[in-house]
Amino acid sequence: MNTNYQFTLKNETTQTDYELSTLCGTVGPDVLDMQTLYQRTGMFAYDPGFTSTASCKSKITYIDGDAGILMYRGYPIEELAEHCTFLEVCHLLLTGELPDQTQLHKFTDDIIHHTLLHDQLTNFFKGFRRDAHPMAIMVGVVGALSAFYHDALDIRSKEDRDMCAIRIIAKIPTIVAMSYKYSIGLPFMYPRNDLSYVENFMRMMLGNPCEEYRPNPVLVRALDRILILHADHEQNASTSTVRLAGSSGANPYACVTSGIVCLWGPAHGGANEAVLNMLLEIGSVDNIDRYIKKAKDKSDPFRLMGFGHRVYKNFDPRAKLIRDTCYEVLDALNLHDDPLFKLALELERIALEDPYFVEKKLYPNVDFYSGIVLKALGIPSNMFTAMFAMGRSVGWIAHWDEMISDPNQKIGRPRQLYIGEPQRAVKPLASRG
Ligand code: ACO
Repeated sequence: MNTNYQFTLKNETTQTDYELSTLCGTVGPDVLDMQTLYQRTGMFAYDPGFTSTASCKSKITYIDGDAGILMYRGYPIEELAEHCTFLEVCHLLLTGELPDQTQLHKFTDDIIHHTLLHDQLTNFFKGFRRDAHPMAIMVGVVGALSAFYHDALDIRSKEDRDMCAIRIIAKIPTIVAMSYKYSIGLPFMYPRNDLSYVENFMRMMLGNPCEEYRPNPVLVRALDRILILHADHEQNASTSTVRLAGSSGANPYACVTSGIVCLWGPAHGGANEAVLNMLLEIGSVDNIDRYIKKAKDKSDPFRLMGFGHRVYKNFDPRAKLIRDTCYEVLDALNLHDDPLFKLALELERIALEDPYFVEKKLYPNVDFYSGIVLKALGIPSNMFTAMFAMGRSVGWIAHWDEMISDPNQKIGRPRQLYIGEPQRAVKPLASRG
């Protein structure tokens, strides 16, 4: 992995040179190897927000933010979204390869037979207030999985890690649907093994025990695609959180819960809910200019939700695919004149022509259109981030597995630039103040 060129750090005071070698991946920028920086120079690297830091080596996902490229295990996201199902993509992310028919059959069978929750787990829902945010319920109930699968779990065993991945992918949709049913006071729907992964979820989420539920195939495909597009995104905030939590050897269900916590924030997965709320607040195309002005005004905290990305300084390829899906869904439901979709298209057009957004390379991200599709599917906006969590769970567990199987894995432990008081003596209470 080492390339043959080096960088030199020069300490002008001591007139000392330090050579830093570089590492290169299969594609993408080379990386300065800083592992011995402190040991050799007595200095740390300062990089809040990790804007220039590669925290690990990974084979799972590659992003070129300038070119707007996203690949899972080397496959462009556009091809995966067109030719594969979410479960095929899960297999790809977890094992490194797309499944053949026999492998897919086995993988699907394994998932289907783990969708039920331990019956005692259903008691956890009842401990929440009915109006609790579904993400708060997710945090509690997914975290509680660790109480059910802890003692028998050996994270050094590949077999145990694979079983954990199956359980996460299988049970999270059941938990998402139950969180929703609980919040609206309807009975939980049990999984059905004769349905596909997405059909089963839609039935648990949107069906009721009094009648047969038959999901529209266009909507099933749309949701499957949304899950594919959310499945992984290299070292994003929630995945990094899962890795950091897991680096201490913690229970993987608890680690995935830490990812759910991080995802909840509006700067991350909470943005899809925020986009819809923003569109409702803007209300009409006549108000767009006023809100664009607010977004540009540094003294106003308002930001155009669903715009901008830490990595993409070009169109987020997922946003393009979701926009296409949006058209398909609105067609299938005869909602061509959907006012929110029209408003979103117009907002996108105006923002993309505005010099502020052009100069700062702020393009629509994955969340900009996903909320409109989810709303059309009948999913309420407070469930949007839970839907994101459902798709991203496979990415979290794939990264956790990759990290635990790495023989050089270390506990994650960043350092800091201390800017507090230097050493001082404690005065007796009577002489303080
Ligand atoms: N609206 C208005 N201005 C923006 C926006 C926005 N949505 N996003 C960034 N900017 C401006 C910032 O004010 C900053 O301006 P400055 O250089 O004059 O200070 C500049 O663009 C760079 O933005 P940063 O916040 O420094 O970029 P960062 O990489 O830290 O943040 C983030 C990226 C959090 C996604 C940001 O663009 C944002 O808040 N967007 C809105 C929320 C959102 O859609 N989040 C979803 C992200 S995708 C995901 O998690 C799936």
